[in-house]
Amino acid sequence: MTDTNKQDRVLIFDTTLRDGEQSPGATMSHNEKLEIAEMLEAMGVDIIEAGFPIASQGDFAAVKAIAENSKTSVICGLSRAIFKDIDRCWEAVKYAPLPRIHTFIGTSPQHRAIPDLTKDEMIVRIHDTVTHARNLCDNVQWSAMDATRTEEDYLCRTVETAIKAGATTINIPDTVGFTAPRESADLITMLINKVPGADAVVFATHCHNDLGMATANALAAVDGGARQIECTINGLGERAGNTALEEVVMALRVRNDIMPYRTDIDTTKIMNISRRVATVSGFAVQNNKAIVGKNAFAHESGIHQDGMLKSADTFEIMRPQDIGLKETNLVMGKHSGRAALRSKLADLGYDLGDNQLKDVFVRFKALADRKKEVYDDDLIALVSDEGTHQAYDYLQVKFLRVICGTEAPQSADLTLTIDGVDHQITSTGDGPVDAVFNAVNQLFPHDARLAVYQVHAVTEGTDAQATVSVRMEENGKIVNGQSADTDTVVASAKAYVNALNKLIVRREKTAPEAE
Ligand code: KIV
Ligand code: ZN
Repeated sequence: MTDTNKQDRVLIFDTTLRDGEQSPGATMSHNEKLEIAEMLEAMGVDIIEAGFPIASQGDFAAVKAIAENSKTSVICGLSRAIFKDIDRCWEAVKYAPLPRIHTFIGTSPQHRAIPDLTKDEMIVRIHDTVTHARNLCDNVQWSAMDATRTEEDYLCRTVETAIKAGATTINIPDTVGFTAPRESADLITMLINKVPGADAVVFATHCHNDLGMATANALAAVDGGARQIECTINGLGERAGNTALEEVVMALRVRNDIMPYRTDIDTTKIMNISRRVATVSGFAVQNNKAIVGKNAFAHESGIHQDGMLKSADTFEIMRPQDIGLKETNLVMGKHSGRAALRSKLADLGYDLGDNQLKDVFVRFKALADRKKEVYDDDLIALVSDEGTHQAYDYLQVKFLRVICGTEAPQSADLTLTIDGVDHQITSTGDGPVDAVFNAVNQLFPHDARLAVYQVHAVTEGTDAQATVSVRMEENGKIVNGQSADTDTVVASAKAYVNALNKLIVRREKTAPEAE
């Protein structure tokens, strides 16, 4: 048997909170980012890219708080190849026991045109900015944005310059998801063989999924010599997303026979963090998503079920428990006590503090009163909803009554708490949800456009909870809101208000101007 401890370690660099959050609509609140960072650290992520400190005051505060809270993971912030970005990044990450500055510049012909630098001028910029970063911090990562579309000779020059200036990790991003596995491996091998000083640094791979090859390209890069994979939970990220953490980690584990590399990830924590990221980002995981999709371990067809009953490895290459997935079954009812709820939630991977458990228990009792059978998925929706709506939210739904039926117009009587003060209105609309949204709009006027409104049943049956997702857009800023309730209209009102709360946060966040 192979001793995995002796195998080469591949570092896992998670960028859910930076590249993932850059995905339009995936804005997370300060507390949500802190919570996700804690979960990433607990699962053994080596490096957490916590944000882009120069992007906004909110990003800066989140990176600083994550740095202050961190213990074992390296905390990294992103910065352009500009001194003031690097200084701001250092101001945020320096509180971590293990800080890292990550600075990047676009090296391809397409990207060089943006700062309007000649090739030689860019070399000077790389030298100066990496030197500056290294004077502040011992741990510096440099990225050649759009490396896979950069001329090879020039890429070698840029990498050599960054290494000489003191970079300790060299990242070779496939920014537009353009490369293919063999090319991805060859590029890393070429750099390691050709660039002086390459043996003293760690090479990283950072792949986007535009052609659906992000996981394959990242694993191929490891075969080519990369020892850091950059990835996000659920593959969250701009456009088609980034390499999914759960995919590369499980692929390295399941196919260790042909990819003999180890990571330090506790895979049993995958399912729980996947659900949490889906909730806070508002990006639901597709049912057939590898590893974490609802159907990833479901065997519907008769032949498969028969095989599974005889022996699980007939169709399973990994066990649900390996990623922390417990069987969905009927568990709780209105007579279940707090200890039973705590233990069930622990089984599902939720370790709630006493106060949070108290709040969830009150909501669980209310749910069990309305719904005889409470399933695991109901509890997950309940806990997620608890985390989505906070006592300090600027807007809160306090009271809602709706009149609907065959006689139009439908009407909504709504009390909305705005910045701590109650406001009441009755409004009509074309259907109950329209009436509710009109009521919210009259109490809190805004210019945001409703881009998506979706309802999903959490479980089966007419008493099932509904999760509602809404996406709103205002001046190019996109936010997603979510909520769950057995009453679809209440869930709709709360999801709409959740999106508006996120928009209020988002208005303060302005992207840095290109320089
Ligand atoms: O995709 C990319 O090139 C990036 C860099 C900023 C590392 O995200
Ligand atoms: Zn990226």
